[in-house]
Amino acid sequence: MARRIKFFDTTLRDGEQTPGVNLNLQEKLEIALALERLGIDYIEAGFAIASEGDFEAIRGIAGALKTTSVVSLSRALEKDIDRAWEAIKDAVSPRIHTFLATSDIHMKYKLKMTEQQVLENSAKAVAHAKKYVNDVQFSPEDATRTRPEFLYKVLEGVIKAGATCLNIPDTVGYTNPAEYTNFIKGIMENVRGIENVDISVHCHNDLGLAVANSAAAAVVGANQIEGCINGIGERGGNAAIEELVMLFNTRKDYYNFTHNIDSTKINRTSKLVSSMTGIYVQPHKPIVGANAFAHESGIHQHGVMQERSTYEIMTPESVGLSSNTMVLGKLSGKHAFVSRLEELGVNLKTNDEINAVFGKFKALADRKKEVLDEDILALVDYTNDKIAKKYELVSFQISSGNRIINTSTIQLKVDDEIITKASTGDGPINASFKAISEICGYDNLKLVDYTIRAVTGGHDALGEVNVKIENDGKSYIGRGISTDILESSILAFLSAVNRIV
Ligand code: KIV
Ligand code: ZN
Repeated sequence: MARRIKFFDTTLRDGEQTPGVNLNLQEKLEIALALERLGIDYIEAGFAIASEGDFEAIRGIAGALKTTSVVSLSRALEKDIDRAWEAIKDAVSPRIHTFLATSDIHMKYKLKMTEQQVLENSAKAVAHAKKYVNDVQFSPEDATRTRPEFLYKVLEGVIKAGATCLNIPDTVGYTNPAEYTNFIKGIMENVRGIENVDISVHCHNDLGLAVANSAAAAVVGANQIEGCINGIGERGGNAAIEELVMLFNTRKDYYNFTHNIDSTKINRTSKLVSSMTGIYVQPHKPIVGANAFAHESGIHQHGVMQERSTYEIMTPESVGLSSNTMVLGKLSGKHAFVSRLEELGVNLKTNDEINAVFGKFKALADRKKEVLDEDILALVDYTNDKIAKKYELVSFQISSGNRIINTSTIQLKVDDEIITKASTGDGPINASFKAISEICGYDNLKLVDYTIRAVTGGHDALGEVNVKIENDGKSYIGRGISTDILESSILAFLSAVNRIV
């Protein structure tokens, strides 16, 4: 009989720990709603005690989701657990996730705790969480580098205290499939009461094995898998949820599992996470990379034209890539546009939101012959940016070349006033950034990252620019799109500055 695997998404918690990623409440809510539509069972919405922003985001998500369980992380401390409960209490099915490290390295150098203290504190934390909520998950951090006999004792203690789910993290991405499956089997055979709780796995990707380790553990009995969309996360990232889903779907003959994920929502969710976090997906990334379904070599193209299954083990449609060949352009009406939005899984709620994106689409169609699905998704994500826009671009004029002084004149609307400033710089982009900084009154802004890419192929493609700037030791990301890359750069910089405000 097929076994049900539950998916636990931690894009908004472990994924947000990706360097440079800093999502605001609105963006987190948007991603959480997309994860719910995708069919995720548990959403770890943040770490409630970490900051006021995290707390508010978890609370907002808990109040907004209709079916998905909302989880807050907490250390094994009463004050953390109290705060976690405050944040999730409005959720349809709230869960507290508490953790304490159990490996010798962590106990000695990080926690400075004895085995006895770790044993007591982990059980005490679970018992405290249980006062608030029935569903309590416990993670022995750095489990895979923990001595098994000690781990068994800790796990038995938290089960007795009422834990409903035991998560076994490979915190530093150290294990491999054979070792991890033995480790999980050891837990299943040696921990009293284990048959009454869920066994979860949480794998980091430092050695590129996070998906393989998670899938192997599921085969021997784990029934919850944790991961992030696009595999984002600290260092090498977390297990990529979309890869696990498509592995189970494509190899149903081997993985006899059922799950709740609607794989046709994968592409849309991936694009949303990528655009909100500013973390690009590499082109050759499985499932969601731009080349994941592209066939370049003649032999492969020929094979696919004769019979798709020669080189395609899953269809692009199964992950939500459109098979629609009807191209939208400047003569396309709102009706066709709205129906394409629906096909792409875009969920715009109000008429105002639809009209705003439709206006941008029309403007783009005037500059670009064919507006492709990728363009539409980029427009939606850009237009939907809910950051209050104190500074808006009115116009820019740039003179640039290799034998002149690069100058940019920028005109911004600031509240209700129009302000114009000209600046010079090493190049047109540097000159523009300086002019904007002057208008906005920031003299210490540092541009720490700048990336540019074409959203689609073709000479009239949309150029998407992502920037990361630093102000007073804090970093902010911004994104801009236009068929003119200087305009994209200016818009990206402005969007980052608006985030500071
Ligand atoms: O990687 C890890 O150990 C974690 C825990 C908090 C579950 O993220
Ligand atoms: Zn982790």
